[in-house]
Amino acid sequence: MNITVVGTGYVGLVTGTCFSEMGNKVICIDIDEKKVEALKKGIIPIYEPGLEPLVKKNVELGNLTFSTDIKEGLENSEVAFIAVGTPMGDDGSADLQYVLAVAKQIGEEMTKPLVVIDKSTVPIGTADKVKATIKAALDKRGADIEFHVVSNPEFLKEGAAVNDFMKPDRVVIGAETEAAFKVMRKLYATFTHNHDRLIEMDVRSAEMTKYAANAMLATKISFMNEIANICEKVGADANKVRIGIGSDNRIGYSFIYPGAGYGGSCFPKDVKALKKIAEENGYKAKLITSVEEVNDAQKVVISNKVIARFGEDLSGYTFGVWGLSFKPGTDDMREAPAIYVIKELVKRGAKVKAYDPKAMHEAQVFYLKGVENVEYVSSKYKALENADAMILLTEWKEFRSPDFMEIKTLLNSPIVFDGRNQYGVFEIEKEGFEYYQIGKA
Ligand code: UDX
Repeated sequence: MNITVVGTGYVGLVTGTCFSEMGNKVICIDIDEKKVEALKKGIIPIYEPGLEPLVKKNVELGNLTFSTDIKEGLENSEVAFIAVGTPMGDDGSADLQYVLAVAKQIGEEMTKPLVVIDKSTVPIGTADKVKATIKAALDKRGADIEFHVVSNPEFLKEGAAVNDFMKPDRVVIGAETEAAFKVMRKLYATFTHNHDRLIEMDVRSAEMTKYAANAMLATKISFMNEIANICEKVGADANKVRIGIGSDNRIGYSFIYPGAGYGGSCFPKDVKALKKIAEENGYKAKLITSVEEVNDAQKVVISNKVIARFGEDLSGYTFGVWGLSFKPGTDDMREAPAIYVIKELVKRGAKVKAYDPKAMHEAQVFYLKGVENVEYVSSKYKALENADAMILLTEWKEFRSPDFMEIKTLLNSPIVFDGRNQYGVFEIEKEGFEYYQIGKA
């Protein structure tokens, strides 16, 4: 099929590339000329395992092209994805200006029947707004061209996005017409032909499915973080409790790892937006509100432990931080606990030596820009040289089984704060470490 994808951010680029890998002709549109020029050469602006080789290959094969001109895409396409950002507005709701600007452009430039697909995570009712915007633009130029608006939320995990796209658990399609469903079935046939993974529903339910999925997962995490905090008070071990409850397959083992709080581009934004959507519709979402509150508090649990150990005034102390990204496998630092923890330590006079396999650039130029007393070092062990304690914030594989003797030699005193409960299994207290983790006093 001929496909246009508008927006070459995380979602758009993965979507466009994976469709091109299946032999479709895909054109990805972005207003950022520099980005488009780089993409034409196969250079991608983010770190996502497996994505760059696929982009390069399909650019060379001619299946994947990039342009700043939406017209170029719409001339040939049967479907157009809207995959532009929906950043969080000041009041917590999703900002739809980019989505609606693309809808307007589609209405202005489309020349043949089109299925327009909302891929961005958008509030319930957005498809109706997209439809009205396209219709208004068509009317304005006196054009009468058939189009359908479909909701097709993405469920990609950063760090595993290509695999998630290629082998989806489900593809949710919300549409109003059989004609639109037909196009969508054809579009996803290559990804769902072994099992029937296509779930068809009305548009609003599809839009809601995305929020419900993310809010459910965020709830599991906040629930477990709360249990962990109670465990610390009562002398229980959250690691054991996790295994104890996860064995019930109604609960399951996934997403019940206590830690330094959830971050990323989806959970924080979507939980906030869902709360706002409920509020706007006259419902006070108490549980969702608490999920967010628990997470906000959880992001500083590790810095609070440091303060409890070293005192309110941290001047004169240096901390070696392992991990800056919000989770392993990505350079993304959006809402990463590292931002909050490092800022808090530095605010109290401490020095920080930080290392992350992929996110150092993001930290320096953006998320921790201008934050003084943070030194970025080239290896995990360098971060510990003459430091007073080590703090683990992201469970990258290279941090999971380190040389504890080396750590002991490098640190001024053998103190480890583990924000991801990675080292309990090694019983490092027995090696003489003072060890702090989440959910075990
Ligand atoms: C998430 C959803 O999983 C995905 O389906 C959706 O499309 C986008 O949002 P992502 O943000 O990439 O994906 O990350 P995910 O792997 O889900 O982790 C989110 C956060 O939760 C991370 O900060 C992670 O550290 C944290 N987490 C996850 C926990 O603290 N405990 C857990 O048990 C699981």
